[in-house]
Amino acid sequence: MRFHVLTLFPQSFPGPLADSMVGMACKRGLITIEVTDIRGYTHDAHGTADDYQFGGGPGMVMKPEPIFEAVESVLAHFEPADRDSAEVVLLSPQGRVFDQKMAEDLAKASSLVLICGHYAGVDERVRQHLITREISIGDFVLTGGELAAMVMIDAISRLVPGVVGSMENVTQDSISSGLLQHPLYTRPAQFRDLGIPEILRSGHHAEIEKWRRRESLRRTLERRPDLLETAPLTPEDLEYLGSLGFSRSNDAAEGHL
Ligand SMILES: C[S@@+](CC[C@H](N)C(=O)[O-])C[C@H]1O[C@@H](n2cnc3c(N)ncnc32)[C@H](O)[C@@H]1O
Repeated sequence: MRFHVLTLFPQSFPGPLADSMVGMACKRGLITIEVTDIRGYTHDAHGTADDYQFGGGPGMVMKPEPIFEAVESVLAHFEPADRDSAEVVLLSPQGRVFDQKMAEDLAKASSLVLICGHYAGVDERVRQHLITREISIGDFVLTGGELAAMVMIDAISRLVPGVVGSMENVTQDSISSGLLQHPLYTRPAQFRDLGIPEILRSGHHAEIEKWRRRESLRRTLERRPDLLETAPLTPEDLEYLGSLGFSRSNDAAEGHL
């Protein structure tokens, strides 16, 4: 998987992406993160990449020419088939909100071009004529798209086979599985006066799995009951949730059984 980040602040990268599993994945060649300085595609001695808004208003707007030329230059190095299927993403608080499902879809692409906006935003012609998707990482406004690009790269990278040790880890994660994950404990079994549930030390694998599933369901009901409407649930799950006072309102979700 190849990520191409276009930014006015290339020194922000790789930042935290150099560490831990994503950093290892880069070293092992499972993913690549290439960073292009948009300012390198400006045409004046000052490297002007932003300008005042037509019509007046606060804040500078990123000019279209450097962004178009930077994207075209990146795409020119792609194989023709990759160029046609490339996703060109504008990070923006106006985009569709990024979630695990979108991360899974984007992980299937061979290349992802991520345009980081800054200041008051980018010229509208970028949005209309250059990109294939506009993505927000949540309903809040950042000063620039760099952190948003890092969040997306991290979430998508861990879905690339080999990046996380076991794909089982990934599918059991909260949200990925459709539910929130059960509580996790590690050694020591006794920390100060804090113990762990005895069942986890019993060695009864089937009972441990049953406990984990119920904890996962209970926790999801407490914190994210919305997830239960579409989560893949068995009749046993529904019976347990029923005992906690929950019943699914969305009949269509029965198709997930
Ligand atoms: C201050 S914001 C501009 C917001 C713009 N004036 C608007 O109302 O849509 C500057 C840049 O930060 C990035 N950004 C801000 N919030 C974001 C979010 N929630 N998700 C993704 N990118 C975001 C975008 O690239 C945006 O162009």
